[in-house]
Amino acid sequence: MESHSLIIAFTTFLALSLTPWPALAKDPCNFPAVFNFGDSNSDTGGLSAVFGQAPPPNGRSYFPGPAGRYSDGRLIVDFIAESFGLPHLSAYLDALGANFSHGANFATAGSTIRLQNRTLQQSGFSPISLNVQYNEFYDFRRRSQTLRNGLGGIFKQLLPKEESFSRALYTFDIGQNDLTSGYFANMTLHQVKLYVPDVLHQFSEIVKWVHSQGGRFFWIHNTGPVGCLPYVLDREHVPASDYDQYGCATPFNDLAQYFNRGLKQAVVELRKALPDSAITYVDVYSLKYALVSQHKKYGFEYPLRTCCGHGGKYNFNVNLGCGGKKEINGKEVLIGKSCKNPEVYVNWDGVHYTQAANKWIFNQIKDGSYSDPPIPLNKACHKT
Ligand SMILES: *[C@@H]1O[C@H](CO)[C@@H](O)[C@H](O)[C@H]1NC(C)=O
Ligand SMILES: *[C@@H]1O[C@H](CO)[C@@H](O)[C@H](O)[C@H]1NC(C)=O
Ligand SMILES: *[C@@H]1O[C@H](CO)[C@@H](O)[C@H](O)[C@H]1NC(C)=O
Repeated sequence: MESHSLIIAFTTFLALSLTPWPALAKDPCNFPAVFNFGDSNSDTGGLSAVFGQAPPPNGRSYFPGPAGRYSDGRLIVDFIAESFGLPHLSAYLDALGANFSHGANFATAGSTIRLQNRTLQQSGFSPISLNVQYNEFYDFRRRSQTLRNGLGGIFKQLLPKEESFSRALYTFDIGQNDLTSGYFANMTLHQVKLYVPDVLHQFSEIVKWVHSQGGRFFWIHNTGPVGCLPYVLDREHVPASDYDQYGCATPFNDLAQYFNRGLKQAVVELRKALPDSAITYVDVYSLKYALVSQHKKYGFEYPLRTCCGHGGKYNFNVNLGCGGKKEINGKEVLIGKSCKNPEVYVNWDGVHYTQAANKWIFNQIKDGSYSDPPIPLNKACHKT
């Protein structure tokens, strides 16, 4: 009898030690704030504040008008904030109505990690590259405390507490535009590949700078399968042999995966350089690719065709995109219209994902099953 219960106790012990219970047993982090850096995948109003609002029908499924987002509704970063019980992040560049009490968003659509040499009008890429976003954050961190402590009053309601900077989650979703900017400037994919190490080096430097300002918890998304997006697919005549069975352009996805392998290695190096930090690498690439390749399984009807747009194989026209208007008989007519049912489309406008896609991706990443280390989002302050 005794030996029997010993065996049970021992096997229970074994079973417990084989399950990742230490991570699960840890307390939720109760992040008081989120500071986000990135591109259009997580822009909640930055580009709109300085270069003109994203036009309707952006935002139609949720806000209900344009809300600085390139989507019909919420982005992954919105679902992250909601899951912490925090308000959606105000864009740092938004001078009106912003409330930064629980974080700030430095992302702008079209942002790259590396500094751009050409203007937005010339290249289509944002001048608010990641180093600029860091400068903004640096200034925000100081001035927010000067105002809170010096003036008090309303500033205490609108700006984060000092302690929030070391307890916040710092989220990053950037890199896609570093890959496309070279290609769109007529470089070959091989030439783009050659500068990826420099892009990753600059990324790591900036994470270290954020750490020097008190950041300790980092949540880093890898880059998506850019070869499954109509703005790449529609651009050039990709040879038939370069398409995979789902209609994505393999050379571009290979490039994205090359970048991601480098990013994952950069995260390993960052963990060594910043041993007091918890740094989570999140594989959104696999999820975005699964949405295209197994769209039916996940409740989507259209993997590549855009919901909002007009013309061509993908309902996408680079010269007249979502929200685009044309003058017809002296009247402005909306040409880049939304479909009726965005919830069955993966792609919103040829470049960005629908709210339904973003929500599905968020639901997959929040429990940590696509993360390295595999800890849930709300426990991403714990090192493993
Ligand atoms: C910008 O120009 C500099 C100097 O020519 C070059 O080293 C750098 O790679 C360029 N950056 C980009 C993003 O093309
Ligand atoms: C800012 O947001 C916080 C959190 O939602 C809220 O408690 C506070 O009242 C807001 N302040 C103003 C001035 O809107
Ligand atoms: C790329 O090539 C096209 C076609 O030759 C040309 O029109 C365009 O100006 C080039 N772009 C850049 C950035 O050099």
